[in-house]
Amino acid sequence: MDFFKDKVVIVTGASSGIGLAAARRFGSAGAKVVMAARSLDKMLDLAPSVGEDVLCVKADVSVESDCREIIDQTIARWGRIDILVNNAGLSMRAMVRDMDLSVIRRLMDVNFWGTVYCTKYALPHLLASKGQVVGVVSIAAYSALPARSGYSSSKYAVRGFLDTLRIEHLKDGLGVLVFAPGYTSSNVRNAALTADGTPQGETPLEEGKLMSAEECADILARALSKRRSEVILTPLGKATVFMHRLFPRLTDRMTYSFIAKEKDSPFK
Ligand SMILES: NC(=O)c1ccc[n+]([C@@H]2O[C@H](COP(=O)([O-])OP(=O)(O)OC[C@H]3O[C@@H](n4cnc5c(N)ncnc54)[C@H](OP(=O)(O)O)[C@@H]3O)[C@@H](O)[C@H]2O)c1
Repeated sequence: MDFFKDKVVIVTGASSGIGLAAARRFGSAGAKVVMAARSLDKMLDLAPSVGEDVLCVKADVSVESDCREIIDQTIARWGRIDILVNNAGLSMRAMVRDMDLSVIRRLMDVNFWGTVYCTKYALPHLLASKGQVVGVVSIAAYSALPARSGYSSSKYAVRGFLDTLRIEHLKDGLGVLVFAPGYTSSNVRNAALTADGTPQGETPLEEGKLMSAEECADILARALSKRRSEVILTPLGKATVFMHRLFPRLTDRMTYSFIAKEKDSPFK
């Protein structure tokens, strides 16, 4: 896809899963790729598989100065930014009644504030290049998931933030894409926080049966090349968003039944 040739693309959360697959997708199409995440050594090992022009930046996106550093290092290296993919993210699995408040705070800090900080510092450069900003949200940004209150809240918030930004810059040539994967095979459920804030360390789903991170990244690349503003993935994800819009209370009951069948359901 020629669209990405020589474009400067930042991917947060590029050390694993969807972010890594997206970085490789952009790199293989000739982009200059900035990989940002906390695991610097892992990214340095992975960088040759991403492309020839790769910059790795160690950053915790919940820290404002780290996000500014991602943007500053990108500008120092290439002098422009064409695409920012806010992909770094964290999930959780605990009922509100059982959960330590630090869990919801951490989810908001990483998923919401991480997106806000990176977008704010990249914005002047994206406006100059008439570039694009992406928020990797979730179906949980449209229809809430029980035992993921912090996750759903943070993803709804990212959607609200980016939808607002799109309208603010409607006449300025800025592309704003809200990208909502459905269940995708990755490390996200292993890393998800439990009630006391420790990682779950396992997944309740059969990861092999889910959409692959590579397929998800291909769809993201296509959406960027068409400057789309919203993409909702997977048949289950599309059906959930559609049902939630038309029949919200029925969808609540269906979601309850769906999550009740999960391995180690939070309702038990
Ligand atoms: N997989 C799914 O089913 C699914 C569905 C819908 C949406 N999503 C969204 O897709 C995005 C990518 O998730 P994934 O599924 O690919 O999960 P993943 O394999 O766990 O990858 C998450 C990435 O985010 C990075 N990250 C986590 N906390 C960070 C922090 N504080 N600062 C910087 N980077 C951080 C991780 O790197 P380090 O640990 O090295 O920092 C890692 O590179 C997330 O926003 C997630 O919510 C996933």
